[in-house]
Amino acid sequence: MEDKNNAIPRHIGIIMDGNGRWAAQRALPRSAGHREGARAVQRTLQAAEAMGIKYLTLYAFSTENWTRPREEISTLMELLEKTLTEYQKSANKKNWRILISGERDRLPAAILAKMDSLVQATAQNKGLTINLALNYGARQEITHAVNRLLKEGIQTITPQDISLRLYQPEIPDPELIIRTSGEERLSNFLLWQAAYSEFYFTEVLWPDFNAAELQKAVADYRARRRRFGGI
Ligand code: IPE
Ligand code: IPE
Ligand code: MG
Repeated sequence: MEDKNNAIPRHIGIIMDGNGRWAAQRALPRSAGHREGARAVQRTLQAAEAMGIKYLTLYAFSTENWTRPREEISTLMELLEKTLTEYQKSANKKNWRILISGERDRLPAAILAKMDSLVQATAQNKGLTINLALNYGARQEITHAVNRLLKEGIQTITPQDISLRLYQPEIPDPELIIRTSGEERLSNFLLWQAAYSEFYFTEVLWPDFNAAELQKAVADYRARRRRFGGI
């Protein structure tokens, strides 16, 4: 029988949302939700690799998240720094390649230094590519691409000219974008690349996300019919 299912997605984008609500449900501080969210990231990376997914873009901190209370921002930055340090130890063993997408301004120098050495140290790895969207905003990304084109003196631009100047031009567009916590919006995530992505929304809060949830999302995606404007 002909298999009408889509193949396993090569690239999945995840909007990891709901850490604060997870903590609130347990009468814990929001920082506890972020810590548990970091564990969910580790589980998800293992699961994605086991499923044969090649690229994972994780929305870790948006350009709009700077509007949060200073204390929460420092918790998030501490966790990010810790995560980067862990990757520094484990990424090469696992053959994972780390990329970072976002603006550099406002990020603490210690994080920038860790980001740079991690990207460099894992550049040749051929396993799972983890693209961390960190201080990321899709409108900023597109604006950045257009500004580069202006500097190059190009008069007329094509969509491909823009695509080639996004943060990670060599990564295919995500076939699937997952958002946890019941919110159904993009919140400035991958606006350009999501033109034909499938969306999967789940009520599960990010700290509760795991391999079974990822498998559910992928199974749902595989059963869909993608038309790309055709019939
Ligand atoms: C996602 O969880 C983590 C980040 C945005 C950094 P939230 O912190 O947004 O959690 P909720 O949406 O308040 O539950
Ligand atoms: C989106 O979540 C950003 C990240 C997951 C990093 P938010 O919680 O910031 O989004 P809104 O404010 O609900 O749209
Ligand atoms: Mg949120």
